[in-house]
Amino acid sequence: MTAITAAEMQKLTASFFAAPKKNFIGGKWLEAWSGKTFAVYNPADGQVIAHVADSDRADVDLAVAAARAAFDNGPWTRMTPQERSKLIWKLGDAIEAHADELALIETLDNGKPLKLARIIDAAGTAEKFRYYAGWATKLTGETIDVSMPGNWHSYTLREPVGVAGLIVPWNFPLMMAATKMAPALAAGCTVILKPAEQTPLSAIRLGEIIQEVGFPDGVVNIVTGFGETAGAAITEHPGVDKVSFTGSTDVGKIILNAARGNLKRVTLELGGKSPVIVFPDADIEKAAEGAARCIFFNTGQVCAAGSRLFAHKKVFDRVVEGMAQRAKKLKIGAGIEPDTELGPVVSQEQLDRVTGYLEAGAKAGARAITGGSRVDRPGYFVEPTILTDTTEDMSVRREEIFGPVVCAVSFDEDDLDRIAAEANNTPYGLSAYVWTRDLSTAHKMVRKIKAGFVRVNGGGLDNALPFGGYKQSGWGRENGREGVEVYTELKSVMVGL
Ligand code: NAI
Ligand code: MG
Repeated sequence: MTAITAAEMQKLTASFFAAPKKNFIGGKWLEAWSGKTFAVYNPADGQVIAHVADSDRADVDLAVAAARAAFDNGPWTRMTPQERSKLIWKLGDAIEAHADELALIETLDNGKPLKLARIIDAAGTAEKFRYYAGWATKLTGETIDVSMPGNWHSYTLREPVGVAGLIVPWNFPLMMAATKMAPALAAGCTVILKPAEQTPLSAIRLGEIIQEVGFPDGVVNIVTGFGETAGAAITEHPGVDKVSFTGSTDVGKIILNAARGNLKRVTLELGGKSPVIVFPDADIEKAAEGAARCIFFNTGQVCAAGSRLFAHKKVFDRVVEGMAQRAKKLKIGAGIEPDTELGPVVSQEQLDRVTGYLEAGAKAGARAITGGSRVDRPGYFVEPTILTDTTEDMSVRREEIFGPVVCAVSFDEDDLDRIAAEANNTPYGLSAYVWTRDLSTAHKMVRKIKAGFVRVNGGGLDNALPFGGYKQSGWGRENGREGVEVYTELKSVMVGL
């Protein structure tokens, strides 16, 4: 990507930032019913960059009514799969056309390096819509031979589940919205998106693009606000048939409770404390680089971050040294500075949370090989940190920190069951990373680890591969066929001939 000059950047986003930020409901831009707004901050300097609608139950009621109308009577469910597919694909193309601008909004709002926002968040979002555009025409039921006496024609139908509430976090604001919205639309659902209160801006720009692309009114509704108000109103609403949530495990449990009223279908993508296991036969250079990327990418604010490193005693020092070298070289700065590799964490609250863990770890006897505190500059910056001398009872080892902090632990045995038991000793089960050149060790470990995604010798995310958690890392899967089928109901049909 060519570097954007400050002037060009200003031009790209000037009109967006100049306009008041409202909710997108039933094809119209509406202020919050209460007239209230709240401030949005740039994590790189803590300055206010926008004010957005502070929505509550009344706004969610309007959004649900719009989504219900578009689902129950509107054109969306009557369109052919091909027509829906074309619109979703067109949205992907429109996002690509606006990728520089969307990336910049994401950088200013979330803090991440602009380069990454461009190639991962913006480009990935465009691709997500195009991937799921293809699924709109490929959802099918089956014909099934039954054993009941008589002549029967039996089959299943896959139907959209209805109105879907999509509640997303702040670490990949646009990508997370797309990960839910694209399959929901492909399945024929109508949606209400609530972005995180820390990062609502790219969702608002997405709403404008959706309008330009020509989606019928009410198919996509976007409501900004806080979790306890707007978020809770969506999860409790009797007019919402499905909730898909990504965020903390604690809020995931609150959502399950809220969804009880009308037994909403629920997909949860929650926290993690994912192990990175390095065997002595691994390519240590690559393992160290991969393990560093796995915890420092997006300033550690990744649900699948590799936050517990287990390296064999024979290679532990080399792996940790390799990671520390990389950590020390990472260029820390504001996301808009062209050579920034490590941006700030998202908010003052997150900075306090991460530094709180670092202090608790230090107090309990953990040793920082590198990093260990906040960076002394305005904005919410934390040093990339590698901790050793941790024990299983320390909060830094047990809990999701969601910052650039990894606990490095050595193991001194060859018993795969015992190694797996230590890696599995967590309430979470989102991802795991294994580094070895031995095929047998690799595949045996894959089976022993309790996690929804195991990567051996590298790898990333792919739209075609299901992603989700075992244990308290969630319910259901996103991406791939599973990621769209969770927005459908399965109907069995039996016809006597
Ligand atoms: P959170 O889980 O509170 O927020 C995520 C989303 O849920 C936001 O849109 C928020 O408005 C909404 N929300 C919050 N309370 C809600 C409620 N009662 N009903 C409905 N929606 C609600 O996460 P938070 O507080 O921003 O971060 C806390 C920790 O959660 C982080 O330190 C990290 O450990 C974890 N987290 C995990 C993420 C993941 O990708 N799995 C993403 C963000 C946070
Ligand atoms: Mg919260």
